[in-house]
Amino acid sequence: MVAAGPARRERDARRLLRRAEDESERDLTATDALELLRCPTCEGSLERDAAALRCPRCAKAFPILAGIPCLLPDPAAAILEWRHGLADLERIVAHGRDRLLADTTASVRRASTRRRLEHLRNGLGAQLEQIQSVFRGAGLESRARPPAEAGAPAVGDTTLSYFHQIHRDWGWPDAEIEAAAIAIAEVCGKDPLGKTLFLGAGAARLVRELHLRQGASATIALDINPLPFLVARKILDGETVRLTEIPNSPRSIDDVAVERTLGEGLEAVANVTLVFGDAFSPPVARGAFDTVVTAWFVDQVAPDAAELAPLVHALLRENGTWINHGPFVYPAARPVRARYTADELSEIARDSGFDLDSTDIRRLTFMESPACNQGRTERILTFAARKVALAAREETPSAEPAWLSDTSAPIPRLEAFRARPLPHPFFTAVVALVDGARSIDAIAAEISRQQRIPEDALRVAIRACLADLAREGSA
Ligand SMILES: C[S@@+](CC[C@H](N)C(=O)[O-])C[C@H]1O[C@@H](n2cnc3c(N)ncnc32)[C@H](O)[C@@H]1O
Repeated sequence: MVAAGPARRERDARRLLRRAEDESERDLTATDALELLRCPTCEGSLERDAAALRCPRCAKAFPILAGIPCLLPDPAAAILEWRHGLADLERIVAHGRDRLLADTTASVRRASTRRRLEHLRNGLGAQLEQIQSVFRGAGLESRARPPAEAGAPAVGDTTLSYFHQIHRDWGWPDAEIEAAAIAIAEVCGKDPLGKTLFLGAGAARLVRELHLRQGASATIALDINPLPFLVARKILDGETVRLTEIPNSPRSIDDVAVERTLGEGLEAVANVTLVFGDAFSPPVARGAFDTVVTAWFVDQVAPDAAELAPLVHALLRENGTWINHGPFVYPAARPVRARYTADELSEIARDSGFDLDSTDIRRLTFMESPACNQGRTERILTFAARKVALAAREETPSAEPAWLSDTSAPIPRLEAFRARPLPHPFFTAVVALVDGARSIDAIAAEISRQQRIPEDALRVAIRACLADLAREGSA
């Protein structure tokens, strides 16, 4: 027992040494990952130097943070926002700890309650220090927001969004990840995954398991949230990370704050590249992947699956496979129109050029911490859908998409609309107005307002122009 500390330190030191020796070979260059990555601004190929990936075409540099390239269109803005997010957390934790201290000293008589409050106060402090240390390792120091923004309600993800997923992935018993990996293995069959892309990989345990078990040759995983990815990078490199879970309904006083060593006993994994990148504008080569995986992603994150499916199609090579795993549990803000059920998602996949080779629906446990009273089960659809070969598509022409036949329906931001060069300035004007919400009618109204052309004539022209691009894109 006494020797465990030094033994672990020695093991960690050996790992760090090995890591330092491997550093120049590691991640990007040891695999063909760099060939798969693209500039998020111009889609050009990238070059690597010591601290950044560079796009020779648009002369932009994308920093590498603790081994994770930041391929977001404006990396400086993203990094600043992450630093602001950390400062927000510091402020919230300081406030919370002050209140707990006041409660403990003033009004609480019961010894067990005092113990719980003290445990929570210490746990919050430890958790913050651990998070600060992870951020510091990536060169991310906290930075307070400018006074005008300070105290404004958080929009979008915070530093702690998906925090519990980190513990689920690397600290809790393996049951949930294991069940997901099994469901996916069953629909995948025995074919190796090959070059694999994960969209919205979170804390990346499923990335690791599928990479190792399903024969991925190189895996690229994209996400935009820093903490889960920074922790995942360390663990995938064979390190461990101390992190404290604070469950929202703890089972016992000891469970109020549970400090864990995440990733204990897991070996380093080669050829898994984590990238800060937007899944809806992915900084990767089109048509280059054997497999694209979306896990617990479509309902939670994609604004509209009907927009995501053609993008996944464009990322895959012919006959490549889209693996989807997840429930249909939408955030409140999602319009009812885009709250698809399992059968609609399957239909969307077919309409977008996929054959559903294998599907499975089963009920699985979700986010059941051993320290928490909460947890739930979800009905999960898992499918493996094959990108249909061009010839097969032509034999079975699909019906006109709804957004073309109904000119009041929103037009999805199809990959095909990104094609350049466009044949005429009118195409450019139309495509510039496609934002995922506007319909043909809305675009006609907008151009009519700008250029004083009758809306009816415009509607016909816009429809023809978009139909043309969509057809070209699927050809
Ligand atoms: C519900 S979690 C699922 C995480 C992961 N697939 C897993 O296996 O646990 C959704 C993830 O999508 C990420 N995400 C949200 N919007 C994204 C975007 N535009 N691009 C990339 N990742 C995104 C979130 O940060 C989060 O990690």
